[in-house]
Amino acid sequence: MSKGTISVSVIKRLPRYYRFLGELEKQRVERISSGKLAALMKLTASQIRQDLNCFGGFGQQGYGYNVAELRAEIGKILGVDKGYPTIMIGAGNLGKAIASHINFESRGCKLIGIFDINPKLTGETVADIPIRHTDDIEAFCGEHKPVIAVLCIPKEATRQIAERLVELGIKAFWNYSHYDLTIEHSDIVVENVHLGDSLLTLTYNVNAL
Ligand code: NAI
Repeated sequence: MSKGTISVSVIKRLPRYYRFLGELEKQRVERISSGKLAALMKLTASQIRQDLNCFGGFGQQGYGYNVAELRAEIGKILGVDKGYPTIMIGAGNLGKAIASHINFESRGCKLIGIFDINPKLTGETVADIPIRHTDDIEAFCGEHKPVIAVLCIPKEATRQIAERLVELGIKAFWNYSHYDLTIEHSDIVVENVHLGDSLLTLTYNVNAL
């Protein structure tokens, strides 16, 4: 099944399926019915069946889903085995936390370089990766050809850095800066992340209690 034939809303749910199926695999569960998976994930069985029908062949009447096969298929669609070379810009509190705590490799990325404009940080290491000065970005990208950039820099710096990185061949941004990056190229993808938005969703739900 190619990506183009799966709806965006199903794709948005895939990481969650992948995570839950991973937990089931760890517990050595070989197969699971749509009803049980739905109860675990707080979805409906029909939603699960509709979503997972996109991957054809894994759900069988009276058998359920083969956990390992379904997880492998979803992983393939998500690209977890790609190891896209990834760089990070901004090695402050947030950048350091993300570099140290996110397992890039299990999510299809390999963090290969970290850059910061502050010369005092040059030479420090985070997650065994030396922090380089932003002056070295061009040479590094020329040599290592990163595809993804994680942006952990202030809002004001984001647009300029993003444009510079697009020129250097970056195709995707995982953008934590508080600047909603939109890039007018059809071959560039952006995922803007705002942890505060998630908290606001929570406060909305608390209000509704
Ligand atoms: P910080 O001040 O600890 O680190 C920012 C780092 O970016 C510094 O090391 C600074 O030298 C570097 N920097 C500034 N301009 C740069 C440039 N042009 N090129 C390369 N490096 C540059 O700040 P912190 O806490 O790490 O936060 C980083 C940004 O992320 C802030 O703007 C903050 O508002 C935002 N943020 C976003 C969150 C989200 O959920 N999206 C959550 C927390 C922070």
